[in-house]
Amino acid sequence: MEVFDLIASMQNEISAAAPANSEQLEQFRIRFLGSKNVIKPLFAEMKNVPNDRKKEFGQLLNSLKESAEEKFKSVQESFESNADEEYDLDVTAPGFPLIQGTRHPISLAMERIINIFTKIGFVIAEDREIEDDWHNFTALNTPDDHPARDMQDTFYLQGSTEQLLRTHTSSVQTRVMTSHKPPIRIIAPGRVYRNETISARSHCQFHQIEGLYIDKNVSFADMKQTLLYFAREMYGPDTRIRMRPSYFPFTEPSAEVDVYWGLKDETDYRITKGTGWLEVLGCGMVDPAVLNNCGIDPEEYSGFAFGMGIERQAMLLHRIGDIRQFFENDVRFLKQFSAVL
Ligand code: DAH
Repeated sequence: MEVFDLIASMQNEISAAAPANSEQLEQFRIRFLGSKNVIKPLFAEMKNVPNDRKKEFGQLLNSLKESAEEKFKSVQESFESNADEEYDLDVTAPGFPLIQGTRHPISLAMERIINIFTKIGFVIAEDREIEDDWHNFTALNTPDDHPARDMQDTFYLQGSTEQLLRTHTSSVQTRVMTSHKPPIRIIAPGRVYRNETISARSHCQFHQIEGLYIDKNVSFADMKQTLLYFAREMYGPDTRIRMRPSYFPFTEPSAEVDVYWGLKDETDYRITKGTGWLEVLGCGMVDPAVLNNCGIDPEEYSGFAFGMGIERQAMLLHRIGDIRQFFENDVRFLKQFSAVL
């Protein structure tokens, strides 16, 4: 029968078809799959096909249609995967919006503090996070039985009583003093670790900035003026500070510095415990024993040191209520700092 021959020749045509570009592919589509395609009218021939061949006829037509669809799809896919070669640049098309990244609020606060101190001649000193007991404690006048060494607070490396994760950036003081001659004027930013229960107010990892200034005739008044300068740069030109006597093993005398935060609203009451004053850092005159431990003559040199937690500063600057947010990498939190310079 003629119509069977026609199907066979179409089947051959489809198998042999090799559209070389999208225009030829479109012709192929119109011919075999379009609304006026050449296969469709063949279905009408069914009535002329003898009964015993109707089934065969139907199957042949269906497979003709299927092979046309398959051919179209596979050629189309091969064009898409070679899209580069076919790509026409449309210079008038609107651009893709670039998603702007943000710096982490800890990095922002750290940078701000670093800038304040580098402006007056401090240089950045960085050192290891895995420290030994001597640089983290002993050299800093922290006796063997000091509670800070307790296994509760310090992460020691497995099986070691010597190697630990530094508990403060004061260890960088030791590193610098044992390797450099005064004058020394450094700030040491970095990550520190303590074995603390994680809560809204404390974490087992956080960041500190340490400062150290050693030269001839450095006095407590120099320290006070430096820290007042810092507080005013950090919190505004009218910021007031006060110093409270305190104790640190590595400084004598030691003090804690508070800034006046005010009591404007309920949050102020809560974070200042109703006093209006906020503690921001610890400081003091480097203990002569520490200078001695590090090979610096305390008869010739004196100096001051200070240390502060970055998370605390960032929480105050941005009114962040939970320290854990800094470490969760939640984009919804981080995105909010895109406008902070
Ligand atoms: N290392 C102290 C801490 O982690 C902070 C500190 C206090 C550093 C007084 C100092 C200092 O250099 O003089 O709590």
